[in-house]
Amino acid sequence: MAYFGALFITTEVLERQNLVVHVAKVGLVMNEFDSDQDRVTQLRVQIAAHNEAYHGRDQPTVPDAVYDQLLRELAEIEQRRPDLLTEESPTQMVGSSPNEIFAPVEHKVPMMSLDNAMDLEELQSWYERVLKGIEDADSCEFVCELKFDGLAVSIRYEDGELVQAATRGNGRVGEDVTHNVLTIEGIPHRIPDAPKVLEVRGEVYMPISGFESLNEEQLAKGEPLFANPRNTAAGSLRQKDSTVTAHRKLAFWCYQLGEVTGGPQMTSAKETFDLLKSLGLPVNPEVTEFSEFKEVQRFCESWMSKRHEPDYEIDGVVVKVADLAQREALGSTSRAPRWAIAFKFPPEEKVTRLIAIDVSIGRTGRATPFAVLDPVFVGGSTVGMATLHNEDQVANKDVRPGDMVVVRKAGDVIPEVVGPILSDRLDDSKPWVFPNVCPGCQMPLERQEGDANTYCMNRRCPVRIETGISHFASRNAMDIEGLGERTVRGLVEQGMVNDVGDLFGLTKPQLMKLLVSDSSNETLVNNLLSAIDEARERPLANVLIGLGIEHLGPSAAELIARQFRDIDNIVRAETADVESIDGIGPVIAQSVRDFFDDEDNKSIVEKFRLNGVRLDVVEGEVDAPQVLNGRSVVVTGSLDGWFLTRDEAKKSIIARGGKSPGSISKSTYALVVGSEAGQSKLDKASDLGIPIVGEEELRYLLETGELP
Ligand code: IVH
Repeated sequence: MAYFGALFITTEVLERQNLVVHVAKVGLVMNEFDSDQDRVTQLRVQIAAHNEAYHGRDQPTVPDAVYDQLLRELAEIEQRRPDLLTEESPTQMVGSSPNEIFAPVEHKVPMMSLDNAMDLEELQSWYERVLKGIEDADSCEFVCELKFDGLAVSIRYEDGELVQAATRGNGRVGEDVTHNVLTIEGIPHRIPDAPKVLEVRGEVYMPISGFESLNEEQLAKGEPLFANPRNTAAGSLRQKDSTVTAHRKLAFWCYQLGEVTGGPQMTSAKETFDLLKSLGLPVNPEVTEFSEFKEVQRFCESWMSKRHEPDYEIDGVVVKVADLAQREALGSTSRAPRWAIAFKFPPEEKVTRLIAIDVSIGRTGRATPFAVLDPVFVGGSTVGMATLHNEDQVANKDVRPGDMVVVRKAGDVIPEVVGPILSDRLDDSKPWVFPNVCPGCQMPLERQEGDANTYCMNRRCPVRIETGISHFASRNAMDIEGLGERTVRGLVEQGMVNDVGDLFGLTKPQLMKLLVSDSSNETLVNNLLSAIDEARERPLANVLIGLGIEHLGPSAAELIARQFRDIDNIVRAETADVESIDGIGPVIAQSVRDFFDDEDNKSIVEKFRLNGVRLDVVEGEVDAPQVLNGRSVVVTGSLDGWFLTRDEAKKSIIARGGKSPGSISKSTYALVVGSEAGQSKLDKASDLGIPIVGEEELRYLLETGELP
């Protein structure tokens, strides 16, 4: 959604120049061009417009990856055709010209940009160039820093007094933002021991936690949300009124010196960082020096998978030659130093075509619109579909079939359609309309007033039944192997199964008729029958999960199964009985009651009983000593390969009378940490003084209920 309004402006800027251009499409063939010259002109206009949007108005019009792609294409043509290279080309410049609102500040030492390496191969080529460019190549050491996604500023101290702070602007002239920088916590106003003149350069950013609370405030006030931490940081720093900036809780990491007079002579990155630290300036703790380039590569790779751990956004790793004399020898181009490179992480946003919007029907009948996308590799996997949640979301985003859309997939988060690229919209495009009838059964879809969701109300809808059965058979529920989507569809179509209760009544002749086209498939039928047979013995909690009771997750199902022991007790239980279980809230309790008030659902339970499904199996640890009674133990990270998986650890905690919620609070007894645990839980636990423990302590805890 970050790309809407801004795109109107971009198109306007472009049209003013009498050029009909389209916003770039990564990975798509561009328009036809007469020559390199045409393409160069076109690229320069587009890049200038994006620069103005990004640096001038803090409102990017396209994802960074799209911008980078344009710049690289231009640089490639210019390299092939040096006759087309001009001094004004955006490949030779940094950022955009300063805005008139703020007084201009000339940088005595220009503020440069960085060249990018898009993968390890490009990083390797940079390394090889570096080695060629210095004399004592064997001694070359490197310093790796995170590439913070904020905005660069230069802060000037004279006689220890902060006298000026400026943005990078176009690299030669920036904007005076002194009044705002003075409000940033962690930036000293006075440094008594500073050299006579000291310019400190670094990145102003907004911590993710601060960004999230700011948006919570916006939501509470009913005001529009901010798009992302970077733009919010940039917008916050470029405020006329510094009380606004002060409220925005910005932060700063320094990584470089500008003009310095007096003070000790620096010879290496380490000395520079030591000086900055000793002066009380904020240096990022992840800065690391390496003497082997292999270690540099490893650092880059490991941060690629940890990129969402810090409480600030990063989009790469900056690798710099550590020795300052070697830096001098390597020198710079007009735009960027040769002694540094930005290793960029793969983009988490890409642009692709939205082919269609379809609706899927869930087991509760909920009709969920989703985008069918031209498959695109983004955030580490190929994305061909993305949920659009509900009717209002489609309308709010105004995404339409045929649109070019920005697709985002960050970390483990499910892929999302951010919004359309409006300047690319086809002339005949029309807003999408939610279908009137269910795609599964053609019965009318219904949306109640005040509800964001639309439903198929037909309990006999074949698609609803199919999704219900697939869920029932899934690994976390009844784990029935061999019951794939096609088989399920066949069973429903042939009328052999009308609900999950019928599964256990299936006979061999029935399945033979459905599945066997040649005799070798008899094994398939036998396997399926024995998988169904095994499922008859599954624990009660799995039966409850499989039934698909709304809001009922695995932990709550386990608690209810342990309390009531037999499904009959649950069918009879009052809402209050269910709610009285520690860890079960009113919503789940009501949902359980509603489920078993329904005659169809009761009849499923009867079918289970008739067909020999056990409805009273409570997992092995019924008699475990209740040593964790009332204690809440949070488990995070991956425990696989330990003596318990995370789910098993949680179950064991619950089996001993404890609770194992997903988040930490003041009353958490301990945090159990596995590998690749999220930093935020660790931070929260240490803030609240909650013990952080590992495998050994968990064993002890399960035995004794105490920490060793
Ligand atoms: S050094 C002469 N180090 O990235 C070298 N830049 O794409 C100047 N950035 O303008 C930059 N983290 O705004 C450097 N650890 C880091 C950085 C960093 C983020 C930004 C900075 C720079 C941009 C270039």
